[in-house]
Amino acid sequence: MKNSWSRRSFLKFIGASSATLSTASVGISCSSLSKNSGSIKGLPLNTASDDVSLVKGLKYKLLIKEGDSIGKGINFGTNNDYTNLYKFSDGRFGLWVNHEDMNPLLAHGRKDMSKITTSQMNYERDQLGGSFFEVKENESGDWFVVKDSKLNFVLNGNSKIKMSDKVLGSATALGTFANCSGGYTPWGTILTCEENYDKFYGEAIYDKKGRRSIKTTKRDRGWKNLDPRPPEHYGWVVEVNPVTKTAEKIINLGRFAHECATVTLSKEGYPVVYSGDDSKNECLYKFVSNKKGSLKSGTLYVANLEQNKWLSLDYQSNPKLKRKFKSQTDVYIRAREAARIVGASLLDRPEDIEIDPITQSVFVSLTNNSSKNNYHGSILKITENNPSDLSFKHETFKAGGLQNGFSCPDNMAFDKNGNLWLTSDISGYAIGSSTYKGFGNNGLFLIPRTGPSAGDVIKVASSPNDAEFTGPFFSPDEKTLFLSVQHPGEMTKELGKYTSNWPLGGNEKPLSSVICISGDFLEQFTKQDELV
Ligand code: FEO
Ligand code: CA
Ligand code: CA
Ligand code: CA
Repeated sequence: MKNSWSRRSFLKFIGASSATLSTASVGISCSSLSKNSGSIKGLPLNTASDDVSLVKGLKYKLLIKEGDSIGKGINFGTNNDYTNLYKFSDGRFGLWVNHEDMNPLLAHGRKDMSKITTSQMNYERDQLGGSFFEVKENESGDWFVVKDSKLNFVLNGNSKIKMSDKVLGSATALGTFANCSGGYTPWGTILTCEENYDKFYGEAIYDKKGRRSIKTTKRDRGWKNLDPRPPEHYGWVVEVNPVTKTAEKIINLGRFAHECATVTLSKEGYPVVYSGDDSKNECLYKFVSNKKGSLKSGTLYVANLEQNKWLSLDYQSNPKLKRKFKSQTDVYIRAREAARIVGASLLDRPEDIEIDPITQSVFVSLTNNSSKNNYHGSILKITENNPSDLSFKHETFKAGGLQNGFSCPDNMAFDKNGNLWLTSDISGYAIGSSTYKGFGNNGLFLIPRTGPSAGDVIKVASSPNDAEFTGPFFSPDEKTLFLSVQHPGEMTKELGKYTSNWPLGGNEKPLSSVICISGDFLEQFTKQDELV
């Protein structure tokens, strides 16, 4: 281990002084967790201005915004989320960015979700999925987009995408959308995760006799009225190869509202993938591959936190699964039902998952769960001896709430020194409301690992109105943090009366964008030679 901390700092960071909370109690503010002692001064928690406000010593530059061209006939889409700075073998870099959702009012003035024209639908499909474009760093350390690079491409709601197994008789799906967070593999591919897919083509449900019907969600965008497609073709992890510009939906990782797909290797070198289903009372999954360098063969498990066990979703060995489903593929397609059958824990909306580079513990954001009166969420920490193990220990690392200075944890990133960077996602309509009074706009938070503020939660950036920060990703030298600013002004009810004008200012329409954050404040935590 490169770093050595004081025992006090270390215990404070890992939350060892806090009581271990059960699943049922997570999210309740925990008085024994460390308070913000303030040795490092962050932004006031209630900061709420229509800009990216930053702590002293940080600055930001806009890298790309919604609608910007990235090549002939292709543009940077809307509501950007996960970012991944990809290094090619020749040293060039590209940035992958997910495009999660669409605000039809801001996009083209569409207010009524049930009324959509074909051209509007096609436009919306085009703006979702993911973008990939070359980026370069200039001599001053600023990154910029190479607009017409041959490396650039998009995957969108109309792209033909291979599936690793046949689903409803087809091995090809049309489109990817609702791409929220993601991950990457050691063999040079990017994982983009289809989360709230049910907004677009609804959800397939099955009655007791196995008869299938399509359920429309309240948030339906109207696409399925014009051009229905099978919901079972969505809700997957998509593996993208930026070198070949190809993509494949990986069926054996299961189908649900995948927030992310976080990959590590077992001690024996087999890939292990963690993924959360971001819906109220849904589950946390782990896939253990039995083939090195591949995610297409292995076993899917789901977590039971009461037993501290990963429960297998293997069809052949489970008579209950055999009674309910026709095949292993069926289990993957209806993973939520299978998870309940084997006895999985129903969690408080598992969002992003990151692995501590120092201890290898698995950190899971549980953002909130109004059905359990859990409004502020928590960060769960899972410890395994080997990522392929089927038993683990768990505890609450940090509970959300005013006392700990954050609410609704979502995306996370560890820097190489093991400091944790965290974003919050209080829903646009709830920002500043009674439940969330005092939290201000959503933010980027830092939990230092060492020093006098070790374990404190420090707000280092505050987002423009209605927005959330998503997709934090460090450049290799960790002097730049790529960060998405998603859905500024999403509460706008009428064009021209925008609740945010970021990033252009004036009375301009708000635009989701990627920014680059840098500065001394960042480097004091990420430089590699400093820790004692
Ligand atoms: Fe797209 Fe769960 O956030
Ligand atoms: Ca998220
Ligand atoms: Ca969220
Ligand atoms: Ca959001």
